[in-house]
Amino acid sequence: MLLHLREPRKSGRAASRRSTRCLFLTIAFLFLIFAKSSVAQTRPTPRPEGSRGSSALSSPLLEARVSELLRKMTLEEKIGQLVQYSAGQPTGPGTGRTDYEDMIAKGQIGALFNIVTAKRTNAYQRIAVEESRLHIPLLFGLDVIHGFRTVFPIPLGLASTWDPTLVEHTARVAGREASAAGIRWTFSPMVDIARDARWGRMAEGAGEDPYLGAAMARAYVRGYQGARLDDPESIAACAKHFVAYGAAEGGRDYNTVELSERTLRQVYLPPFQAAVNAGVASLMSAFNSLNGLPASANPFTLKKILKEEWGFQGLVDSDWTAVAELVNHGVARDGAIAARKAFLAGVDMDMASSLYHDHLAKLARSGEIPQAAVDDAVRRVLRVKFALGLFEHPYADEKRENTAMLSPDSIALAREAAERSFVLLKNSAGAAGVPLLPLSPDTKTIALIGPLADDAGDMLGSWAGQGRPEDVVTLYAALSQRIGTTRIRYAKGSAIIEGSDEQIAEAVQQAQQSDLVILALGENAPEMTGEAASRAHLGLPGRQQLLLEAIAATGKPVVLILFSGRPLTLPWTFEHVPTVLAAWFPGMQAGPALVGTLFGESTPSGRLVVSWPRSVGQEPLYYNALSTGRPAGDTDLSRPPPGGTAKYVSRYIDEQNSPQFPFGFGLSYTSFRYGQPQISVKEVSARALNQELRLSKRQAGGSVSVSAEITNTGAREGEETVQLYVRLQGTSVAQPVRALKGFQRIRLAPGETRKVTFNLSADSFSFWNDQNKFEVEPALATIWISPDSARGSAVTLEIGK
Ligand code: BGC
Repeated sequence: MLLHLREPRKSGRAASRRSTRCLFLTIAFLFLIFAKSSVAQTRPTPRPEGSRGSSALSSPLLEARVSELLRKMTLEEKIGQLVQYSAGQPTGPGTGRTDYEDMIAKGQIGALFNIVTAKRTNAYQRIAVEESRLHIPLLFGLDVIHGFRTVFPIPLGLASTWDPTLVEHTARVAGREASAAGIRWTFSPMVDIARDARWGRMAEGAGEDPYLGAAMARAYVRGYQGARLDDPESIAACAKHFVAYGAAEGGRDYNTVELSERTLRQVYLPPFQAAVNAGVASLMSAFNSLNGLPASANPFTLKKILKEEWGFQGLVDSDWTAVAELVNHGVARDGAIAARKAFLAGVDMDMASSLYHDHLAKLARSGEIPQAAVDDAVRRVLRVKFALGLFEHPYADEKRENTAMLSPDSIALAREAAERSFVLLKNSAGAAGVPLLPLSPDTKTIALIGPLADDAGDMLGSWAGQGRPEDVVTLYAALSQRIGTTRIRYAKGSAIIEGSDEQIAEAVQQAQQSDLVILALGENAPEMTGEAASRAHLGLPGRQQLLLEAIAATGKPVVLILFSGRPLTLPWTFEHVPTVLAAWFPGMQAGPALVGTLFGESTPSGRLVVSWPRSVGQEPLYYNALSTGRPAGDTDLSRPPPGGTAKYVSRYIDEQNSPQFPFGFGLSYTSFRYGQPQISVKEVSARALNQELRLSKRQAGGSVSVSAEITNTGAREGEETVQLYVRLQGTSVAQPVRALKGFQRIRLAPGETRKVTFNLSADSFSFWNDQNKFEVEPALATIWISPDSARGSAVTLEIGK
């Protein structure tokens, strides 16, 4: 079988001399490359992410193997490595090709995706490995976004845990299951910053904050790729969509993006850089245009920033037909030009458009694209294949596939992740003077109402991998198991969109005959969230608002559980419904996690990772905004502006500026008190911080430490996410009114106090300044330790020269 790379070792002295010579040349070549890249590394461009992460893709041995193989390849075989097709369930428009077997045998395909069993991947792999001239294995990819067969909460929910370690574990389980089915490459994590809830893909990411987004990016990469990429249970990650895809105008998917380089560097790039530093094997170039240049034909972001500044060694894959879409963008008049532009900009592999297959060889022969660029792109693909150990172990173990899925530990993790993802938005005292949650054990009958109370499919969320509705435990099933069906009065009340007066009347009747109502309302996961699911209206879909108001009118206590891929604008609800829990789409353990939370076995600890809008007109809405020259300050914005000059502040005349709930917000069943923060020094010098910036992360010390005492003032144990925010004033360019620079989760017993300390390094005070550099400038820094982005007391720090 394959292993052509081992052949020379087997074939006697001449071959061994040959390989010694090759090795020598390779080492000399590598020396040149590394000498060159170390020059790039010593350039004094301090980066907020610190030093480059060691990547499995940059070992000299691996590079030597890549070089050796590359030397044997024809131009056509090289181009073949840059071509990728979907051979299963499509997730975009097709190319009409189906002759994959023939193409694989000819070495014309480097990767396939959307094939999901070991048997099917092995069948294709056998052709590549046994029939193609150089026996180069295929790379099999899939969108494994929040689990493969064991489905965890959607990424927005996972991020709401503020628990990167937990997220890493979920990604590890996803990798273990996917790899058992022959998938060694996932198109995850989506690390796009999302500041606009109209954008359906907000569900797939970690929300609006670059610091939290970077922490989550690292966690996913570590989880998927493990300690070693060649561990058969590891899969290559793909950070997507590079870049600024989430800033689509009007929140409309695939739409144009206009963004300053400063916002790009400070907000949209950090999670990608974190992924690169964590060793991510691949990146996906996005659909959108950025300042007029499509992201999949953008040498500034792909070449200059990603490959040169950050030294990324892995492969850049285009998003689905993003190369062909350059024609629609209007920067290419035909497929050949589109292929040339994408390729020269730094897109190494063409997903699904077939244009690299159709045109690259000819473009290389005519000199329109340099052969060296072809070699560089092929190297990137081969690095990933070698690093994954595909040459040694090209096939999936069909026996492992049967045992890897849905292990009890994975299911327990799915439940834990779901419980920790819930964000308690409101839990005000009911008629008895106590909050409705946790439910009193005396609650005799519960009316369980709503289209999502017993809907297994939607619990899985969008991009649900190989999750199956039959694996899901719904809220209805879990509640029945907990209290017995005789104590539950169930009525659907309405479908998510359709519905009738009769259904509402039946639900009202069930509510009237019960002690308490649990309402399960929200969006349809596959249709209304994720890709191509932008919404201009963010209320409850269909007749659900009517249903909610009819149930509330019964006067029964109502606990509303919202299932959604984004925050929904529900001002009436937040005024009239006493208890609201944001559950996102919790995954296969939705029911048990919710019932455990409702009955208080688990205390909600999730915190919002997106600002929750009051109305759509506020979008894009994010906490880390710049101040205007006329901030509203303490003006009461809940009423129309007064006459006179007080009117002329930055505001809406018919809506408040503030969100319904701020970024970082979430209630618990207990309460916490924050003491006044203390700071270790009153003054630091910008020069010293800038020196620190140039050191690697390990060498950089915490220049400033800030601490505060947090007390659990309630009667239950609970977990608090303590957040640290910074504002800089007096800088060369305006900086956000607050920016998250640290968080810690602590668990406190009732009455317990703990001092929480944050060691801040120079990164916390640096920004992309008017000299186009990440630097620290003399400034006044205000530092909060607070429960969310809108509250808390602060200390100040003078950053002198
Ligand atoms: C999406 C990507 C996805 C790809 C492959 C595209 O439509 O934008 O996120 O990875 O399809 O399924």
